[in-house]
Amino acid sequence: HIMRDISGLPELEDALESLLDVSQCIVVSGDSEESAWVKSELGRACLNSIKSHLKDENIIAVTGGTTMAAVADALTPDFGGKNLLFVPARGGIGTDIKNQANTICEKMAEKSQADHMVLYVPDQVSEEVYNSFIQEPSIRKVLGKIKSANILIHGIGDALTMAKRRNTSEEDLQKIIQEKAVAEAFGYYFNENGDIVHSVQTVGLQLEDLEKISHIYAVAGGATKVKAIKAYMKFAPKHTVLVTDEVVTKSILKG
Ligand code: G3H
Repeated sequence: HIMRDISGLPELEDALESLLDVSQCIVVSGDSEESAWVKSELGRACLNSIKSHLKDENIIAVTGGTTMAAVADALTPDFGGKNLLFVPARGGIGTDIKNQANTICEKMAEKSQADHMVLYVPDQVSEEVYNSFIQEPSIRKVLGKIKSANILIHGIGDALTMAKRRNTSEEDLQKIIQEKAVAEAFGYYFNENGDIVHSVQTVGLQLEDLEKISHIYAVAGGATKVKAIKAYMKFAPKHTVLVTDEVVTKSILKG
């Protein structure tokens, strides 16, 4: 009698949940790095789950990246039947414009016919400028909304890929390398054990806010992110829902 192979998606989901010790994993078939269609599936799967948790009023905080852009693309007007406000999770950790949290937010709001807010915080300013900047009423208003988000959707990236994609200073880049960071999520860098080794100093969502957010979705797939996903999930709050693909799942389960 040969042991049955774990290959069905629900079985993969169950196995991944118990291995990562999180409340829920959603697995789509295929490799999202190889196929744009699979990446869209990640987005659709994530949105389907979120839909079942919407309340009368919702504040959805989102990060940037190409996976988040795929989530935005998958949104449709019927998603917004409830009161929705999209806000960027954190300010000033931008990459190229089209994959920045602000842009993704705007797109999500447009596609679901909902509202959004932007957070324009410059990356490199003196502490003095920064401190007066965040006293601005318009900035404070957005920060207040971010702090009361009930849903967070974020990507997970490979640490070095993300550091290079951003305007990371040589000094910070060296720190990220030296500390053996392998994962990045919402501006925090993590080593293999899921310990934070570096963070981008900016306003918006802070770590202590995570526990208060009822629904957290980490969306990431593709073979090159296996290490990053494994590491980040060691850190992730237990109520995080991981939305990933088959390639990542099988690789993590293989150990
Ligand atoms: O924080 C991680 C990044 O958002 C991941 O970016 O979806 O383009 O790989 P990506």
